[in-house]
Amino acid sequence: MVAPAELTPMLRHYLELKAEHPDALLFYRMGDFYELFYDDAVRAAAMLELTLTARHRGSPNEAPMCGVPHHALEGYVARLLRRGEKVAVCDQMEDPAQAKGLVRREVTRVLTPGTLTETALLDGKESAYLAAIAWGSGGGAGAFLEVSTGELFFRRWGHPDEARGDLDLLRPRELLLPPVPLPEGLAGEVAREGLRLTPVEAADWPGPAEAASLLRDQFGVASLRGFGFRDGEPALVAVAAALGYARRMRRSSLAHIRSVTARESDDALLLDGTTLANLEVLRSSRDGGRNATLLSVVDESVTAAGARTVRDWLRRPLRDLGAIETRLAGVEALLAGATVRSTVRDRLRGLADLERLAGRAALGALTPREAAAVRDTLAVVPALFAELDRLAAPALDSLVRSDPLPALAAALERGLVERPASSPEEGPVVAAGIDPELDRVRSLAADSKRHILALEANERQRTGIPSLKIRYNQVFGYFIEVTKANQHLVPDDYLRRQTLVNAERYVTPQIKELEEQILGAEERRVALEREHFEALRARVGAEAEPLAALGRALARLDVLAGWAEVAARGGYVRPHLHDGPPGVRIVEGRHPVVERTVSGGFVPNDTELDPERNQIVLLTGPNMGGKSTYLRQVALIVLLAQAGSFVPAREAEIGLADRIFTRVGASDDLARGESTFMVEMTETANILRHATPRSLVILDEVGRGTATFDGLSLAWAIVEHLHESCRPLTLFATHYHELTELAELLPRVVNRTMAVKEWEERILFLRRVVPGAADKSYGLHVARLAGVPPSVVARAGEVLANLEAGEYDPTGRPRLAKGSVPATAQPEQLPLFTPPEQLVATLLREVDLERLTPLAALNLLGTLKARLG
Ligand SMILES: Nc1ncnc2c1ncn2[C@@H]1O[C@H](COP(=O)(O)OP(=O)(O)OP(=O)(O)O)[C@@H](O)[C@H]1O
Ligand SMILES: [Mg+2]
Repeated sequence: MVAPAELTPMLRHYLELKAEHPDALLFYRMGDFYELFYDDAVRAAAMLELTLTARHRGSPNEAPMCGVPHHALEGYVARLLRRGEKVAVCDQMEDPAQAKGLVRREVTRVLTPGTLTETALLDGKESAYLAAIAWGSGGGAGAFLEVSTGELFFRRWGHPDEARGDLDLLRPRELLLPPVPLPEGLAGEVAREGLRLTPVEAADWPGPAEAASLLRDQFGVASLRGFGFRDGEPALVAVAAALGYARRMRRSSLAHIRSVTARESDDALLLDGTTLANLEVLRSSRDGGRNATLLSVVDESVTAAGARTVRDWLRRPLRDLGAIETRLAGVEALLAGATVRSTVRDRLRGLADLERLAGRAALGALTPREAAAVRDTLAVVPALFAELDRLAAPALDSLVRSDPLPALAAALERGLVERPASSPEEGPVVAAGIDPELDRVRSLAADSKRHILALEANERQRTGIPSLKIRYNQVFGYFIEVTKANQHLVPDDYLRRQTLVNAERYVTPQIKELEEQILGAEERRVALEREHFEALRARVGAEAEPLAALGRALARLDVLAGWAEVAARGGYVRPHLHDGPPGVRIVEGRHPVVERTVSGGFVPNDTELDPERNQIVLLTGPNMGGKSTYLRQVALIVLLAQAGSFVPAREAEIGLADRIFTRVGASDDLARGESTFMVEMTETANILRHATPRSLVILDEVGRGTATFDGLSLAWAIVEHLHESCRPLTLFATHYHELTELAELLPRVVNRTMAVKEWEERILFLRRVVPGAADKSYGLHVARLAGVPPSVVARAGEVLANLEAGEYDPTGRPRLAKGSVPATAQPEQLPLFTPPEQLVATLLREVDLERLTPLAALNLLGTLKARLG
């Protein structure tokens, strides 16, 4: 690269800015284009398929360059952000026409995945969090900030596992890393694919005191206690780091962010990322998409803000009985009022995203069209609320009513034209009647054509040249054109400007005066429109908080109306929740997703879980029997109920749960670089450590990932632990039918099985959960159904018989029952059949060797061997 001294002032300025943003692609505004230079140009040209050119080509100052039209910036930036790039945007801060010397330019925003507010760059239906983690000696904390809506909260973590769970759950778009190392278990987790990591330099990472003072400034308070902060804790640092970073990137004080909340673990029914994934709440395990997820069934929202809220509620169901009941009552009211519901949903459709627009207004970034969207939305709100009056539902009102901001609505109504241009430069924005001066210059600008035509007619008459024309071009402005044939008629006061082949071009003092007026009027119009619009935008910005609150209220209304719709279509019922002893009683429950996809009708099933007798349900049954479906269905019903939704069942009674844990199947997590069995045991350890008697634990085939006996032993010990120590309500599906013996040993363990009917060598899945344990696993039947060659299935049958023969010890006791249980404890229940070793022993004892011929001895040996299998 050339020495800066030799560069033009513009490129020198560019390089100065670039030095301040080494890790971002710098888009530098020049006229109608944003240009990139040097390495940025080379990289961006490749990524965006732009033509690479050069500035000062052929000179020693030659600089590779590429550019995009200014109006197309966001589309290109969106593509770069998706690739994980960071973009700095440098704008012209003054009108180039009026600039003396180099046009003043500044970086006005740095766009990073976690700090966007640009509607075009955001997915309306998903929250886009910026997160920051801070860790201290006694634990850590994470801050989560959504710049576009101003949502800001923090979580405290005692253990890296909890941090891991939250990051999995909330999936921030960008994660800020402190300049000091994170604890062991977390460092690996955050390095995982998918999280965009931004290390923050020590100079930009606040200490606790600095953090506290930054937050006091931001929130305009003298003490931070009101927000639930403790002195010097990591949460302060995390929140301040996130805010500080967002402020630096947005070049803004982010004045719309006025408060922060502590999300305590006991506010919500806790789910971790694993559980959300296992239950396929937001993403399907098949392709990570939305198809066949709980979200796809219960998201009937009609607005983007509603869709974000549904996700939020599913991710964080409640634990506060009153709050849940309020939501349920809202759904009930909207379910009963079908007409109101459909009108409300119609009116909500097409409403603007007030929460995000409020954020943009607070940042001073609201465009005229976005302001019109706010206006049009506010105009609908009174009718929407009037519609709700017809339901007379106080619980609903408490959730979904908010100040409709009539004064702001009126100001926007008055202040904006019906359909504003995208900016004052492009056309009218401000309504007529606001400012007489604006009206005057506007009519002057708009009437220029009429004025010109009048002047033209006048000149034709005065000169007697019927073909005389007044025309316009960039170089001369307005001029009079007279053909060569009429030159003799041109009056003296015409000043010649240009000679063409067939015509001469003139100006007059009068036409120059008119021109000045016309061009001046346009300039004046733009200036006045901008001034008025900025005032209006500031007005909206000043009410950003109540506006965002209204947006959130409408989003809640959207969710509740959607849930009423889901309940009406799907035949869901209102669950009965209570804060008495934990317990789940479901009559004819269904799996909300599977019931929509099975052909031939879904079979509903009952559930009974309680801490006294049915604490742990061991579910056995054939492959394909419906075990996994049943387990998930119970968890989903509890989750839905505590989120405030009706549930797919005939009746449901649920004692509030504090957490749902799941450990499902043996799935590799290669991205995390851990083996199947390691993942399985890590998750199980997490359950054993954190489950309480109020938790719901779903275990699907735990232990499968290792050697049979290891797996079975672990499963056995895990059930004992759940039964004796942490005592959560548990559903455990397993193929180890040895485990079902536990029901006889432990008082709160019961066996359930998926009923099947055998019919002509085939089995019929009834998909009904019934008391008892499966007597066989039917794995071979399923193998046959799946088309495994008959010879293989037959051979598997022989092997199975051999294995089963070894299942009981010589006294007829199951080999796996605990040694401490006396063998005589259940003589009447066992043995189920005489073990072959015992038969062989009996036969041997009875043989009279004296009378045995060699041939008979050989035959006997054959029989004995056959007995042993
Ligand atoms: N209650 C039900 N009514 C109707 N169909 C059902 C029901 N439950 C499950 N099914 C159907 O049976 C299929 C298998 O169910 P599921 O995966 O739950 O069986 P499983 O017992 O867990 O099998 P495996 O032991 O192989 O894991 C489901 O994909 C679904 O199509
Ligand atoms: Mg299964």
